[in-house]
Amino acid sequence: MTSLNGRGSSNGRRNGVPSKQRPVRIAVVGLGYWGPNLVRVLHELPGAEIPIVCDVDGAALAKIGRRYPAIELTTQYERVLADDRVDAVAIATPVATHYPLAVAALNAGKHTFVEKPMSGSVTEAEALVAVAEERELTLMPGHTFLYSPPVNVVRELIHSGELGEIYFISTSRVNLGLHQSDASVIWDLGPHDFSILRYWLDELPAQLSAITRSCIMPGVPDIAFVNLQYASGPVAHVELSWLAPSKLRRTAVIGSRKMVVYDDTSNEPVRVFDSGVNLPEPTDFGQYKLSYRTGDIISPAIAPIEPLSLELTDFCGAIRRSAQPRSSFVIGIDVLSVLEAAEVSAETGGMVTLESSSLT
Ligand SMILES: NC(=O)c1ccc[n+]([C@@H]2O[C@H](COP(=O)([O-])OP(=O)(O)OC[C@H]3O[C@@H](n4cnc5c(N)ncnc54)[C@H](O)[C@@H]3O)[C@@H](O)[C@H]2O)c1
Repeated sequence: MTSLNGRGSSNGRRNGVPSKQRPVRIAVVGLGYWGPNLVRVLHELPGAEIPIVCDVDGAALAKIGRRYPAIELTTQYERVLADDRVDAVAIATPVATHYPLAVAALNAGKHTFVEKPMSGSVTEAEALVAVAEERELTLMPGHTFLYSPPVNVVRELIHSGELGEIYFISTSRVNLGLHQSDASVIWDLGPHDFSILRYWLDELPAQLSAITRSCIMPGVPDIAFVNLQYASGPVAHVELSWLAPSKLRRTAVIGSRKMVVYDDTSNEPVRVFDSGVNLPEPTDFGQYKLSYRTGDIISPAIAPIEPLSLELTDFCGAIRRSAQPRSSFVIGIDVLSVLEAAEVSAETGGMVTLESSSLT
């Protein structure tokens, strides 16, 4: 099993680690839908500063400039890379640009945060890791849900044994839109569920199968049903869709002792059901008498903390401590392995066996 903390933590000398007295200076690249959230959160983090932001679109830059007049604006990525004030780059551009922008940042000696999915393929991600390791720089994929308080409550319920043996996990991430021309729904929404499953189960699926359909745009699947099997026993079903009448973010985790529903749209995002089925030893030969148990429903308190703030704090901490962040490149590569396998399965119509990356 993968060690999430081993890589990079024992390196003695590392490049570009800012002294404790000054903030980590991070340039945000890509200011479309998601990038402005990175700017907002980094702007408020006590341990971070944003000297410069970059987007090829002047209008996106101008919008940020009006809100944060002290931040320098540029359409030239090279200017960010040549800027000695910049310790790190946070990339929130379309997936196809992740690898070229991230590899250039690492080669320029900048710690690099790159939005999910980390790159367009496992091969690209492994190449990024090689450069980051050689240059002793932090490389972090942005799997925000690993910092979500409800996700962590459920992880604790699984890891403490409170749910018993995990039988299965079933999850729906569906809404109307937004259709993308350059990425399927698997690559857009899938990284969230596949990173959560990887974080909860500490395991890559052994095999998976997927079916998809391109309902609206030819060649761009907008619905996907992915079934995953884990070597330790659990099975999982992930439903992803840009074509649904209402937004659903619902995951059920069914264990031998208790069951959990995690609903990210609810005021009570985690509900623990003391429900299950008992199968006592038969008293007469072959006479099984099942008993169904429906007990209390508990809604644990959830800390009201923005996951993105925890995520970017972890990025700054990883740079300072020369340690792996929770959202490690190991998890980033495992998520890419699942995305690639799901795509292969959808194209070939078969079950795909997954192999761990040599790095994981
Ligand atoms: N962590 C999360 O919860 C979360 C949520 C939404 C999106 N994302 C991720 O954020 C990334 C961006 O998604 P989005 O929805 O904001 O996309 P978007 O298309 O809305 O914005 C992308 C921006 O990048 C700019 N850009 C493109 N190429 C560039 C380049 N070479 N240099 C500088 N700027 C460039 C574009 O002009 C645009 O403003 C994706 O990887 C996506 O998966 C993460």
